[in-house]
Amino acid sequence: MTKILVIGATSAIAEHCARIWAARGDALYLVARNEERLKTIAADLKVRGAANAHIHCLDLNDMGSHAAMLDAAEAAMGGVDTVLIAHGTLSNQKACAQSVEETLAEINTNALSTVSLLTHIANRFEAKQAGTIAVISSVAGDRGRASNYVYGSAKAMITAFTSGLRQRLYKSNVAVVIIKPGFVDTPMTASFKKGLLWAKPAAVATAIVRAIDKRNDEVYVPAFWWAVMAVIKTIPSRIFRKLKF
Ligand SMILES: NC(=O)c1ccc[n+]([C@@H]2O[C@H](COP(=O)([O-])OP(=O)(O)OC[C@H]3O[C@@H](n4cnc5c(N)ncnc54)[C@H](OP(=O)(O)O)[C@@H]3O)[C@@H](O)[C@H]2O)c1
Repeated sequence: MTKILVIGATSAIAEHCARIWAARGDALYLVARNEERLKTIAADLKVRGAANAHIHCLDLNDMGSHAAMLDAAEAAMGGVDTVLIAHGTLSNQKACAQSVEETLAEINTNALSTVSLLTHIANRFEAKQAGTIAVISSVAGDRGRASNYVYGSAKAMITAFTSGLRQRLYKSNVAVVIIKPGFVDTPMTASFKKGLLWAKPAAVATAIVRAIDKRNDEVYVPAFWWAVMAVIKTIPSRIFRKLKF
């Protein structure tokens, strides 16, 4: 039985990961800010076979409460083996472009709250010389685009931060897994028109759980996004600046 802390547990992608872990009989500690949703998800995960499904209500922008939340998760499950960090908001780029406050709020949610969590978790896992930390970044972090560069730059920070953390923790037997989904059909993207490039959260969750099991360093989900982003990253800036997407 693995003891898994799911941060942003009401995310559609995280919920599907938790369903896979529940079916394996793992113990789960679910953190999110919507208590009713958390209760419903926890009840469902217990029916699906979870050894336990504790809930913890927290706005993850309340960084002063991160250490206490981690203490509570360790106490409830008798330790933590694996952490998945999944919370996020898809920034309104047009509104951000007009407002410093909105831009910084988005960076706070999508980057700084995760940096805070990772700093606490890394030190705890380093001390016990074990653990797996998985974070959902995005292909949007691979190259800033006019249509979503606030969200993308926050995800870029997470990608770079976890790259450094992975090197630091390698000798301590702690794996750091970074997940870069492309377009996923979840509440976050409810207003978007869906097409061929879109994946379902259940399929994305299967790939995420597999990457965590294998302690992969970095995975694009679905895998074809690796090739898409490899091409996008090589477009010269003098051409890229004229493109509209
Ligand atoms: N969907 C995509 O196309 C896509 C692509 C690439 C990466 N991602 C990333 O995948 C992750 C999961 O997203 P999703 O697609 O599963 O979307 P989702 O279902 O909308 O989940 C996002 C979750 O983040 C939570 N959240 C946001 N701010 C929070 C805060 N301050 N405190 C606590 N919880 C907070 C939301 O909680 P509330 O319900 O309470 O607001 C929601 O449960 C995110 O990191 C996202 O950036 C998604």
